[in-house]
Amino acid sequence: MPRKPLIAANWKMYKTPVQSQEFMKLFLPLVANHGRDEIVVCPSFTSISVVIAAATGSGVAVGAQNMHFADEGAFTGETSPLMLKALGATHVILGHSERRQYFAETDEIINKKLKTALQHQLIPIVCVGEVLAEREAGKTEEVLLRQTRGVLAGITASEAVPIVIAYEPVWAIGTGKTATPQLAAEAHSVIRKEVANLLGAETAANLRILYGGSVKPDNATALMNEEEIDGALVGGASLDPQSFAKIVNY
Ligand code: 13P
Repeated sequence: MPRKPLIAANWKMYKTPVQSQEFMKLFLPLVANHGRDEIVVCPSFTSISVVIAAATGSGVAVGAQNMHFADEGAFTGETSPLMLKALGATHVILGHSERRQYFAETDEIINKKLKTALQHQLIPIVCVGEVLAEREAGKTEEVLLRQTRGVLAGITASEAVPIVIAYEPVWAIGTGKTATPQLAAEAHSVIRKEVANLLGAETAANLRILYGGSVKPDNATALMNEEEIDGALVGGASLDPQSFAKIVNY
């Protein structure tokens, strides 16, 4: 079974509900009947409902950018997996580097969130990736192995089936410096080999690994042509409907 590519938009902290609706109105006709890739839009929490309403019947799935690991509780300002499910969200981005960097998320926290997402049948898009200093110090592989092991700790092969991993080298996020397709493919292969060690060859062979970091319409094809790259997690270029549609239609 070939891995079905997944192209996801991470809007980060952009777009009001009205702006989100406007995006969907322009975007959906540009990807109508698109069956080759799975398409997922991840708006901020406040726009999830309107984006789901707009996407109904289109084949475009909607996800969140984060969630808490508890089902409910006294966690002011947090959003639970039950709340996301109730809205109709199907996916959730976990452990994005901005969550790690600015909100102190660790592999241990991300691992807890991953387990909760799986319990609630939310498809997790789990992010890993090295910062520039780590790459320059020749530590990329070490970092990817540590993060992969950390986020997957205690998860069995059968539980891991829905998991999607996104390799996002932090130095490529929002900088316009894309990893070359070859460099991204090398990192993906490090992650896939480690998943094979942890969860077996079959799980690793079926695992989708997305690349994220300055994916744009003009570099999407070269990245997607790599056997190891199973999709893209797109930030800046996903905010414009034409530009994101061009990436989806690479
Ligand atoms: P950019 O595409 O803006 O570099 O962001 C990538 C990203 O962080 C997606 O999650």
